[in-house]
Amino acid sequence: MINFKSMGDEEKGYLVALQKSEEIPFEIKRVYYTYGVPMHAKRGFHAHKKLEQILFCLNGSIKVKCFDGEKEEVFTLTKPNEGLYLGTMVWHEMFDYSKDSVIMVIASDVYKEEDYIRNYEEYIKILKENKNYFVHEKAIVDSNNIGKDTRIWGFSHIFENAVIGENCNICEHVLIENDVTLGDNVTVKSGVYIWDGIFIEDNVFIGPSVSFVNDKYPRSKMYPEEFSKTIIKKGASIGSNATILCDITIGQYATIGAGTVVTKDVKDFEIVVGNPGKVIGYNCICGKKLIFEDNKAKCSCKNEYEKKDGKVYKI
Ligand code: TYD
Repeated sequence: MINFKSMGDEEKGYLVALQKSEEIPFEIKRVYYTYGVPMHAKRGFHAHKKLEQILFCLNGSIKVKCFDGEKEEVFTLTKPNEGLYLGTMVWHEMFDYSKDSVIMVIASDVYKEEDYIRNYEEYIKILKENKNYFVHEKAIVDSNNIGKDTRIWGFSHIFENAVIGENCNICEHVLIENDVTLGDNVTVKSGVYIWDGIFIEDNVFIGPSVSFVNDKYPRSKMYPEEFSKTIIKKGASIGSNATILCDITIGQYATIGAGTVVTKDVKDFEIVVGNPGKVIGYNCICGKKLIFEDNKAKCSCKNEYEKKDGKVYKI
């Protein structure tokens, strides 16, 4: 919704001027308006491939339902100085016309029927084709919250409310439930099930068949009020077949060895192996092992670290 400046006052009345500006990001090539629309009428039911428009309700009121492929929202237009911007590929439906409503639209191009998408199924199909992330034809992806350049491979299932960042790689046979967030550049190898309550930050690597848990006292048909939370902080790597128990935070750039059973929090830069997992050393952001002398370590990649009160910090 754009609020246009109204010039004038109650004495003289008001004036709104429309011209190419920050608020109107296109050259106005056409103006059209509707009037005498019966109150029960519904109009629109289409999207435009290229056309941009701003819709004004000059008299009366209307409602406009918009859907951009991710979010649906109903806007109510009641003021002549308010404009609803309808960008490209926004499905819109106008309804609840008040008596005597006058709707004016400014448009970025002349009328071209070939720019219309009037069939909703076709609109959804075109949206899917234009997506900037890849979904293998044999994956089931119910979420729309998926970042650019992410790839989701076959036989994976992503639930509706899962949030996945940009440039992630979700390999074959991965399940991601609803209350799950993945940051950017996350790799999830095959055979991983990420349950509700698991939050994974940027640049994390989850090896094949890593096993997560979200219930401390599992009993069939008995459900906790809330699932336990597990946080994997940025840059951490988890080796194949490791098991991560719940209510656990794995620190930044930590490494969990293959087959490890992680039973408690892991601090930043720690290397943890075994069952139950034990700290056997520390690694650099680049992954190489750090050798400490007098609580100081310098990696061959030039990063430097300090150990204080049992924790490792990057200097
Ligand atoms: P349409 O855009 O479908 O209107 P609404 O969404 O309000 O129902 O157009 C209705 C008819 O008017 C359609 O046959 C095309 C025609 N038309 C033009 O000839 N020129 C125009 O600039 C517009 C907007 C529509």
